[in-house]
Amino acid sequence: MQRINASIGFDRALWRQDIAGSRAHAAMLAHVGILSPADQEKIDAGLRDIAAEIEAGTFPFDAALEDIHMNIEARLADRIGEPGRRLHTARSRNDQVATDLRLWVRDAIDGLDAQLGDLMRALAQRAAEHAADPMPGFTHLQTAQPVTFGHHLLAYVEMFARDRGRLADTRRRLNVCPLGAAALAGTSFPIDRDMTARALGFDRPAANSLDAVSDRDFALEFLAAAAITAMHLSRFAEEIILWCSAPFGFIRLSDAFTTGSSIMPQKKNPDAAELARGKTGRVLGALVALLTVMKGLPLAYAKDMQEDKEPVFDAAASLSLTLAATAGMVRDMRPDAVRLAAVAGEGFSTATDLADWLVRVLGLPFRTAHHVTGRLVARAEADGVDLAALPLAVMQVEHPGITSEVYDVLSVAASVASRTSYGGTSPHNVAAQAAQWIRDLA
Ligand code: ARG
Repeated sequence: MQRINASIGFDRALWRQDIAGSRAHAAMLAHVGILSPADQEKIDAGLRDIAAEIEAGTFPFDAALEDIHMNIEARLADRIGEPGRRLHTARSRNDQVATDLRLWVRDAIDGLDAQLGDLMRALAQRAAEHAADPMPGFTHLQTAQPVTFGHHLLAYVEMFARDRGRLADTRRRLNVCPLGAAALAGTSFPIDRDMTARALGFDRPAANSLDAVSDRDFALEFLAAAAITAMHLSRFAEEIILWCSAPFGFIRLSDAFTTGSSIMPQKKNPDAAELARGKTGRVLGALVALLTVMKGLPLAYAKDMQEDKEPVFDAAASLSLTLAATAGMVRDMRPDAVRLAAVAGEGFSTATDLADWLVRVLGLPFRTAHHVTGRLVARAEADGVDLAALPLAVMQVEHPGITSEVYDVLSVAASVASRTSYGGTSPHNVAAQAAQWIRDLA
């Protein structure tokens, strides 16, 4: 029973939140006259001493006392005697644990938000450096049109900005205080729930005591936001892995974020990126795990809910580590601008520019221009040359109106420079957006 019942093995991570909650609760009990000022002072001092003990690693955690709440409360009674035994008036572990976990998730959100900001700063910085460097843009992982490396990085800045927004939404909704809901029905003591809510930085007390002790939406929303963030990080990690494989050769990572092989001396493996991609499984799994825990629970508290903590803690730790590693790799990576530009021109990547020219200059309907360009691509492919290397006479076989001016639009540089529509990849756009992000994130 003890082995399945005890949560102290993992919920000790809540000790700061538990002590903060107990101090706020005791101060409120004294304020409304349930505790004497002298008892409250002893409780407060005792809790501060216990915090120091835990910090120092000398606190005697005991699995027989189940969880962090009972460990701390029992220790308090050991240290200060009877006043310690008055602390649990007008509360229950049910409102206590719900409060503690909200406080913990709130802190985790603040930490992850700062890390996302750091990653976005790193990306925007690198985007500014490479605002004008072309690379192949892909759809279906087939060469599509040239884009700039900076533009590609800024796409991730947009994703991470939305991730921050989701975390901020989660934080706003979670910031209500369950403390004082007691076991499930509220309490007969004249407590002041606004006071404890305020003391712990919550916006207000939770309105329904049954909901207050049984709601884990905040943890689920956090995990959902974390899962989407992890998915974004995984997509980026996948790209880093592709980019540094020799056939791509788009970037290099230093030894700081790679490892060697024990058998192949030439190997430089992007382990940090692979683990960033791999850790996504844990974060997505955490969301599914907690949804599954919650989906069959009648109101109010049930012990199943003790299973909320490990997924939340593990997802937060995995995401934090992945964010740190990813920001490190962004700062570390060295794009090979020469290779990127060369590859950007392969695969007839400026075929759309040719079609657009036929529309713009010769007035062809786009569908006709698309057809003519397709034939020219087939011709170039058969001759084993780029579009830009097709002689004018050959072009004119497909359409007599084509002039030598067409070659101006067939270079990679001309292609990216022409994409000046809002949000497009032109170096001018990208430099301006990178600068704007750098200002916004400062
Ligand atoms: N360790 C429990 C948890 O994490 C604390 C709440 C226990 N409440 C109860 N009525 N047994 O959920």
